[in-house]
Amino acid sequence: MSDWTHRHVLDLAAFSLDDYATVLELAQRFRVMPISGARKLPALQGRLVTTLFFEPSTRTRSSFELAAKRLSADVQSFSPSSSSLSKGESLLDTVRTYVAMGAELLVVRHRCTGVPAALARDLDASGDRVAVLNGGDGLHSHPSQGLLDLFTLARHFAPEAPTPEALRGRRIVIVGDILHSRVARSNLWALTGCGAEVVLCGPATLLPEAFAQFVAAPPPGQAQDPVARRGSIRVERDLAQALQGADAVMTLRLQKERMHQHLLTSLESYHRAYGLTHARLASCAANVPVLHPGPVNRGVELSGALLDDPHRCLVEEQVTNGIPIRMALLYLMAAS
Ligand code: NCD
Repeated sequence: MSDWTHRHVLDLAAFSLDDYATVLELAQRFRVMPISGARKLPALQGRLVTTLFFEPSTRTRSSFELAAKRLSADVQSFSPSSSSLSKGESLLDTVRTYVAMGAELLVVRHRCTGVPAALARDLDASGDRVAVLNGGDGLHSHPSQGLLDLFTLARHFAPEAPTPEALRGRRIVIVGDILHSRVARSNLWALTGCGAEVVLCGPATLLPEAFAQFVAAPPPGQAQDPVARRGSIRVERDLAQALQGADAVMTLRLQKERMHQHLLTSLESYHRAYGLTHARLASCAANVPVLHPGPVNRGVELSGALLDDPHRCLVEEQVTNGIPIRMALLYLMAAS
């Protein structure tokens, strides 16, 4: 673990293959810990983790808070509606208030791209030894979700040894609203970083052709890609074509709150063209799993029957895996 270099975790674009291996290895150790009896580890005893979610969240926030508690950290959470932000206090001053109370690890979600990174920069500049973990910013990045999806896939392909190698050469189809999805962007870095062949599928309004080039240039702010040999990305408009030879299919929520114009004629026509059902998956091998980061629009991105099918659908497994992944991130960041 000594080669972990990320004081802040803002974007998976900065992760190397070793970083993915480190996180997955640690997460697997936390994942297979006995689930009865004493569930807590003392690693973060006396440390303060603060969750600052300026945008709603069901899974991510409670998953981070549970992960921190499993490591025996103290957990404090900020809620924007009852805070002094409504009295005009700046975001940075609000965050500094928590730092003054002793927060060492901040998990930040914001609807605007770049807020966690800007906070990390400002806190670094003022000499505060605080680590910032991006809990999702705008359309940009959602690193812990990308990692838990990677972990879920690695455990599916190689239950005994869920390493990045388990992804090499696998064809992973991502269907839906790619344009508005920070989850898709984080998955693109993670999956290609581990050598997967990603097929993106969706209508042109939700999936611009340019996504095929998403990892072609070095990540923003970096002279060189930290991954020497990435997998590939292909754009496919037709779902039946995209599903050919798939090893796993991930579908994404239609992010209506981020669509500022009519990008779809109707939800029904979207479901007919891109909704996942048992019938549409019939052309895939029987063990091809379906993932979705949640929250799900039941009957739109995937049918209710598929969502409720434990043999096909890994949605609950993703939620379960989120806890050890976030434990691994908090553990590594607290130690660095
Ligand atoms: C995602 C998010 O908030 O980015 N959800 C999540 O964290 N599990 C995806 C979404 O909102 O659709």
